Amino acid sequence: MKFHIPVKVFDEKDCVKKHSGELATFGKKALIVTGRNSARVNGSLDDVIEALKNENVEYLLFSDVEENPSVETVFAAAEKYRTECIDFVIGIGGGSPLDAAKAIALALKHPETDLAYLYDKERDPSALPVVCVPTTCGTGSEVTGVSVLTRHDKKTKISMVHKVYPDLALVDGKYLESAPQSLIVNTSVDALAHLYESVLNAKVNDYVRMTACAGLKCWAKTKDVLSGKRERSEEDNALLMRSSLFAGMSIAQSGTSLPHALSYALTYDLKMPHGKAVGCFLPGFLAAAPAEQRDELLKLAGFNDMDDFSAFISELFKDIEVPEEELHRAGELVSANRAKMESASFFVDDTVLDNILQSRGRFHNHGDGSMVDC
Ligand SMILES: [Fe+2]
Repeated sequence: MKFHIPVKVFDEKDCVKKHSGELATFGKKALIVTGRNSARVNGSLDDVIEALKNENVEYLLFSDVEENPSVETVFAAAEKYRTECIDFVIGIGGGSPLDAAKAIALALKHPETDLAYLYDKERDPSALPVVCVPTTCGTGSEVTGVSVLTRHDKKTKISMVHKVYPDLALVDGKYLESAPQSLIVNTSVDALAHLYESVLNAKVNDYVRMTACAGLKCWAKTKDVLSGKRERSEEDNALLMRSSLFAGMSIAQSGTSLPHALSYALTYDLKMPHGKAVGCFLPGFLAAAPAEQRDELLKLAGFNDMDDFSAFISELFKDIEVPEEELHRAGELVSANRAKMESASFFVDDTVLDNILQSRGRFHNHGDGSMVDC
């Protein structure tokens, strides 16, 4: 069995400022990588800049990372800062800036990096040191080596083959305070999917079960916040971040499975948020799992049974509409990928895959919370 998380994690309030000295250990000049807005709004960018100033570390700011960052964005950043003698890269934000930061750190280390390099296992995978400051509660990218990038040439998202683990993760729930409810819902369903897909995974081991179970217990305490039954507290924000972090630790070992694989076409074609696209297929995936194990996992996250879980997801995402042809394309992409078909801990053939795909349209909410199987 193997468990590999080479990331130093600080998970506490004001940890960016409290641990500014950690940043200085990576060098004298940082490249900060963010999206266009949220890092300014939630205070994380100000905290990082203050921490760098306290340690006399110079910085440059690249704030052009789009949602679902493309390989073109990675190359544009690398080209822009290649001659700046950057010592380390700080990614601030959700999965997009964090994933982009990892790929940019690799491209800055290797000037010859091109599209083939990102997808060639034989090339040197080393990168500049990476620091991650997550500001959403779904990606877990702060503790994984994965960098998912949009490939417009393939009309989907594909992880680069090289694992670039952050050296340091500074995790503070306060950056969720200003996040809209829709973002909290989408990202925490993504975290839940990471927890379930890592443990219902062919590569699961006892260490993955340990981190996934810890994450599910954290997630369960925030469930009523997602459904709007109560207001989100400071403690909830910390728990949402922590469950995402445990989920990241889990997928760092075993990877994701079918809901993620099926989601990428929806994200690309329909511009559907990642967590929502994954959430489409999560009930169907759990329904296909062995009943005893599934029910145990559902209880850990605070659900009574499969119906309770399906109703919860349907209520969160009742506005989802996925055209039949889109489901077909998502299914075709995954069906042709043997590794994805064999990624679950249980047997999956085209019939099981089709059941997972069709489960998206199988439940209809009747307004009184009751669900019917059509
Ligand atoms: Fe995800």
